Amino acid sequence: MIHKKTCFSLMAIFLFLFASHLAGQTSPVPLDDPRIEARVDALLKQMSLEEKVGQLVQRDASAGITGPGAGGGAWAEPMARGAIGSLFNITNPSEINALQKVAMEKSRLRIPVIFALDVIHGYRTTFPVPLGMAATWDPALVERASRIAAEEASAAGIRWTFSPMVDIARDARWGRIVEGAGEDPYLGAAMARAYVRGYQGKQLDAPDSIAACAKHYVAYGAAEGGREYNTVDMSERTLRQVYLPPFQAAVEAGAATLMSAFNSLNGVPASANEFTLKEILKGEWRFPGFVVSDYTAIAELMAHGIANDGPTAARKAFLAGVDMDMESRLLLGLVDLVHSGAVSESAVDDAVRRILRVKFALGLFDHPYTPEKARPATIRPEYVEVARSVAEKSFVLLKNEPMASGAPALPVSSSVQTMALIGPLADDAPDMLGPWHTAESNPKEVVTLRVALAERAAASQIKLSYARGTDIWGNSETGFAAALKAASQADLVVLALGEDAGSSGEGGSRAHLDLPGNQQKLLEAVAATGRPIVLILFNGHPLVLTPVVPHVRALIEAWFPGVQAGPALVRTLFGDANPSGRLTVSFPRAVGQEPLYYNALNTGRPAEGIDLNHRPRTADERYHSRYIDEPNSPLFPFGYGLSYTRFTYSPLTLSKTTLSARALNSGQAEPLRVSAEVKNTGDRSGEEVVQLYIREQGTSVARPVREMKGFRRIALAPGESKRVEFTIGRDELAFWNIDMKEVVEPARVTVWVGPSSVEGSQGDIEINE
Ligand code: NOJ
Repeated sequence: MIHKKTCFSLMAIFLFLFASHLAGQTSPVPLDDPRIEARVDALLKQMSLEEKVGQLVQRDASAGITGPGAGGGAWAEPMARGAIGSLFNITNPSEINALQKVAMEKSRLRIPVIFALDVIHGYRTTFPVPLGMAATWDPALVERASRIAAEEASAAGIRWTFSPMVDIARDARWGRIVEGAGEDPYLGAAMARAYVRGYQGKQLDAPDSIAACAKHYVAYGAAEGGREYNTVDMSERTLRQVYLPPFQAAVEAGAATLMSAFNSLNGVPASANEFTLKEILKGEWRFPGFVVSDYTAIAELMAHGIANDGPTAARKAFLAGVDMDMESRLLLGLVDLVHSGAVSESAVDDAVRRILRVKFALGLFDHPYTPEKARPATIRPEYVEVARSVAEKSFVLLKNEPMASGAPALPVSSSVQTMALIGPLADDAPDMLGPWHTAESNPKEVVTLRVALAERAAASQIKLSYARGTDIWGNSETGFAAALKAASQADLVVLALGEDAGSSGEGGSRAHLDLPGNQQKLLEAVAATGRPIVLILFNGHPLVLTPVVPHVRALIEAWFPGVQAGPALVRTLFGDANPSGRLTVSFPRAVGQEPLYYNALNTGRPAEGIDLNHRPRTADERYHSRYIDEPNSPLFPFGYGLSYTRFTYSPLTLSKTTLSARALNSGQAEPLRVSAEVKNTGDRSGEEVVQLYIREQGTSVARPVREMKGFRRIALAPGESKRVEFTIGRDELAFWNIDMKEVVEPARVTVWVGPSSVEGSQGDIEINE
């Protein structure tokens, strides 16, 4: 008779061999693969209730054993008891290995711990902030950057990142707008897939893959007034059409985990929301992975007012579908809740099963440790190259007016002999890393604009002077004199202004969106010298640039570009790189326009055809959906961005002009093909982001004035043209109708292919019954 234990080991060996065999394959093994399930089942059977609950506990190593503020601590003891499923905020591989050794050798069932970290836009090689990454409109490049992040983080023993942040953000005041892909669900979904693929790689159990965590589920970005952690109230239709698609895309791409958000949604906190967690995520989408709460979000159910004590908060979050408790330490109470009958042990089993699935899928049981290699002295050169390339593609050229010579201000003309570099962000390494870099990203590895420009100026015999001018948030004008002296002697002034990294990110909501401190005053003083200004903006919020734009010849939106900020900017200034980034968020004219987004509804009284540049003078001008003191439109719209060359679009070619709703809904219809010829009519090579938009009218519910349904980044040599084709079928045309069914309805459809959300070649199609 084979002993039960021997049988288990044999099975484990067989499964291990099988899993190793699988590692050579190219398509990822799904989390709920039967071979993983068999291992989970075998383990689950051996676990005590306390050990199961231990798996649901996640602790912040930097917060200390007894909670936030208590200092780093004695994790080995609870690990030996199997009382911790995951630990985050350690980046030292030997410390990680030592703790893992405790879990693997001292805990009764030898269940590995999953070490996690916020690896948001790079680990050591810091790329642009996610809003900048999105501005590349280049999912393949974002995937490459995320792969590099996974390679670097996994080498330290980190196998789980709390990224991507896929919250749609329609309000520039919200600090966390910098952490996501912006306001559009289509682009948001494309970026979500790119991050997940990059982190998780071809095989999640490859030692250099890390599990992704799509966050913050859900609707966190719709906080009222753009105020951090604030209430969210929205229709199910908007939830499904705007806020859920990037999460669904992440789940479909295989994201192993999701994080439940801090906000309440229609009165129910997202971390206790059965509708979004159980019904949609685990039900409709059949998500096999696990949900971790955001930091202390379970305890915060008490502040929300839906629980008067910890056990109630734990029960509500857990029964709603939260599987792992980040730092509240309240799910520990599940032992008592199961004993009292308030929670069933099978519910606990389901959560544990989800967590173990991810641990098995990551290969943690088979290779729990990370090889401890000496930390490389420098970032790998090929990673630096990628960081530079992402940064270059993330820059959005917002303005480029002619100089006195008649040539555009950028690229810098060879006639420029003296340059002045002015501004508090010109030589600021730490802020280039953005509000959410890791402890491993080192300001010393950042090349600032000043350093890179000095090198370039020396090589090109340009005389460069530098003056800081002012502080980012200061009001002292003591630096103005030196700045003005430098400016007045220069052929061209490069101003580096904007926010510090802490002005956006978590807890970084702003009620004002102007240049912080006295930077506007500095800008105006420099402009008064009459010298031409090229402004480079570093910022996490879309800013109100209305009072800024008139003073500058050229304007580059640079976000926070990461370690290669300086070289990427200098290459762009001098034309070695041609700007090709496009806005993924609308830039307002005034804060009062927020929330501001392109895919809005038309209203019953649109202000179309009305001159909004002055106060209404007649009833006809007044009784429209408008402001009396500001136009409705953004200063810079979604999708917008200039190039050093020019692109033209031919009229559209449509493969047909009528479609049948019935055929589309039953999957019988041939999709429609729409194309335009895009030509580079300028004199240098460039890349264009060709965008597809639609509008549907005559439907059972109002539809947005425009919705993005596709985009393509293409490269064109001078004089070259390419035909860019998109297909329009069920996926592009279906929406959540009056009966809350996702279907195609008969409609009149306008289609645009163009360079932004306010331009493009237009065509019309008809969807019949
Ligand atoms: C809170 C943030 O909301 C979340 O994005 C992050 O992943 C966790 N803290 C962990 O640091």
